[in-house]
Order: sequence, then structure tokens, then C-alpha cells
Amino acid sequence: TYVIAEPCVDELDRACVAECPVDCIYEGARTLYIQPDECVDCGACEPVCPVEAIYYEDDLPTALRPYAPDNAAFFTLTLPGREAPLGSPGGAGKLGPVGVDTPLVAGLPPQGG
Ligand code: F3S
Ligand code: F3S
Repeated sequence: TYVIAEPCVDELDRACVAECPVDCIYEGARTLYIQPDECVDCGACEPVCPVEAIYYEDDLPTALRPYAPDNAAFFTLTLPGREAPLGSPGGAGKLGPVGVDTPLVAGLPPQGG
């Protein structure tokens, strides 16, 4: 799978979203996350990110490796008012921004600027 890593945090350019043929790039609060079971590894998202936040999982620099399990962890979150975790929503467009992040991302200090 491909992975969105730390450079996306507080950047949220969203150019990647329009490129994805399976609509598997989901918006949290401060970053976006790729659903690893839905991503078909087409790679179309990777070159369009202006801050180079997207990597094939095996190509993540060492410091960014935690973002592979962290993208997956986003989909284990259970949103307020829901009984089941996000899981495999089957399309980011219909879900919309969910307004929450993983503990790793939520705990980061403000990025960029
Ligand atoms: Fe983030 Fe880059 Fe997409 S900043 S929203 S991964 S285009
Ligand atoms: Fe979509 Fe990027 Fe995967 S365009 S299918 S998230 S490689």
C-alpha cells in the first residue's frame, strides 16, 4: 500500500484525493490517511503531493516508518456516535472529513509555517 506521512499534517493540500481511482484517501482533522485494504497501489497520488508526503510503504524513510501502521490505525478508530470502527468505508467522498486523527498525529505540535 501507499502511505501518507508527516509532511501532510496541517498541510492538507488534497491534490492526491482527485487522483485516486478508488477514492481511498480519507480526511481526518489534521492529515489524510490511505485505507491500506482499499489502495490498489496505482501510485497516481504520489507524484502530485507538493510536500512529498506520500510513499510506497517499503520506501518510507526510517523516521516516517511509523506512518504505515498509523494510516492503518486510523481505520480502527470508532467515531463518536458510531458503534463500529471506520474499517473499510468504500469511498472517502461519501464519508467526508471525519474530524479526528490518530493519537500519533493528534499529539504532534503544529506543523509548517
Ligand atoms: Fe496531504 Fe499531499 Fe495529499 S499534503 S492531502 S498527501 S496532496
Ligand atoms: Fe489511490 Fe494512491 Fe493507492 S492513488 S489507489 S491511494 S496508490
